[in-house]
Amino acid sequence: MQKLIIEGGIPLEGTVDVGGAKNAVLPILAATLLAEGEVALSRVPDLRDVNTMLDLLVRLGVEVERTGPGRLKTRVVSEEEHTAPYDLVSRMRASFCVLGPLLGRRGRARVSLPGGCAIGVRPIDLHLKGMGALGARIAVEEGYVEAEGPLGGAEMNLAGPHGPSVTGTANVMMAASLSSGRTVIESAACEPEVQDLAAFLNAMGGRVRGAGTPRLEIEGVSRLSGCTFEVIPDRIEAGTLLAAAAATGGNVLVRGAKAEHMTATIETLREAGARVEAEGGGLRAFGPERVSPVDVTTGPYPGFPTDMQAQMTAVLSTAGGNSVVSERIYPDRFMHVAELNRMGARIHKEGSSAVIHGVEALSGAPVMASDLRASASLVLAGLEARGRTAVHRIYHLDRGYERLEEKLRGLGARIERVEDDGTP
Ligand code: EPU
Repeated sequence: MQKLIIEGGIPLEGTVDVGGAKNAVLPILAATLLAEGEVALSRVPDLRDVNTMLDLLVRLGVEVERTGPGRLKTRVVSEEEHTAPYDLVSRMRASFCVLGPLLGRRGRARVSLPGGCAIGVRPIDLHLKGMGALGARIAVEEGYVEAEGPLGGAEMNLAGPHGPSVTGTANVMMAASLSSGRTVIESAACEPEVQDLAAFLNAMGGRVRGAGTPRLEIEGVSRLSGCTFEVIPDRIEAGTLLAAAAATGGNVLVRGAKAEHMTATIETLREAGARVEAEGGGLRAFGPERVSPVDVTTGPYPGFPTDMQAQMTAVLSTAGGNSVVSERIYPDRFMHVAELNRMGARIHKEGSSAVIHGVEALSGAPVMASDLRASASLVLAGLEARGRTAVHRIYHLDRGYERLEEKLRGLGARIERVEDDGTP
């Protein structure tokens, strides 16, 4: 295992490039199962989760060839297999996204149920509701979802108690693309990652309309072909880097950040006192001397992303006043709070909110990462803190951030990845 050692208190300065979006590329990779012919993808981030998805694709008969940095080609060479096993789905929930493509293309799927997750209960009922509406026969046996076609078009509403489902919408969109009929999904997720999947399906010859709105229309087609496609930049990585600039009073240009995908994050950083400006196809953030308090509520896109909540909590922990951060997507996604408090933050949980009493400064401490975004939040806290922070269990970070410490070092941060020998 490895840990990050951070000497905090340095304002970040310089230019950094954003990578491809994890949550766009994972369903897109799953969708390559639908293609007849070769798919060439670019801006594919080098992440542990991407490698997990590629392992799964290989088990499902896909040939994967890495053709350069951020580039790969896929081709389905065998369609015999239809099982996504427990070891891969339990490692990464997004593996469940192969259900739709397997069902749509191979007429049959056996996919392990994902099970527990550090950020709270994450059901898959909306995925199954959608597949059921398309006509799939579904059974849950021995921890696996077993589903069988044929699929036809259907009208459905995929709203859940916390809003739409991102990967649920993606799963149904992929299955419906190869069904015989027309599908309408109401209360579809509008996230840029869902839009990117729709663009990818259309590049393969699919007929998806309405992406980015709550009403998706999918005309089933009989075959999808190979294509060439570039994945969108990661709005959460970009937001994390802008937040790092804000937290350290720095001046950072995030090259490639797409402002139109990040409105809520930009507004919140501005409310916190940062200056955020579009510049040369990216975004620049200037941090304030001291962050101002802000109340933040997460919500489905275009609301403030839950995947930025932990990072924003770290930023606001040293604000000149009190902030309230409320979770509407994952009410229990507050594992970072106790660790931030170990660094001198004063945050208490009230139901599904974190009440943050801004402190003058954080102080470095050994802390433990519990999940991907919590890890990022602890790294931000380490960057703004006085003294030395050790972030343990950073394998969580590597699931979704490509060489984050190298990018931060390029901005002047004193941060190092070392083997974790058990010392704090
Ligand atoms: N929900 C249901 N039933 C379902 C599915 C979801 O009730 O069948 C609920 C969830 O419990 C949650 C809400 O609906 O309260 C939204 O969950 P959603 O299904 O949208 O989440 P997801 O598709 O499993 C994706 C991202 C997450 C991100 C969420 C919310 C991927 C691979 N994952 O998950 O990303 O937090 O959307 O935006 O796209 C991350 O990158 O750190 C991460 C966790």
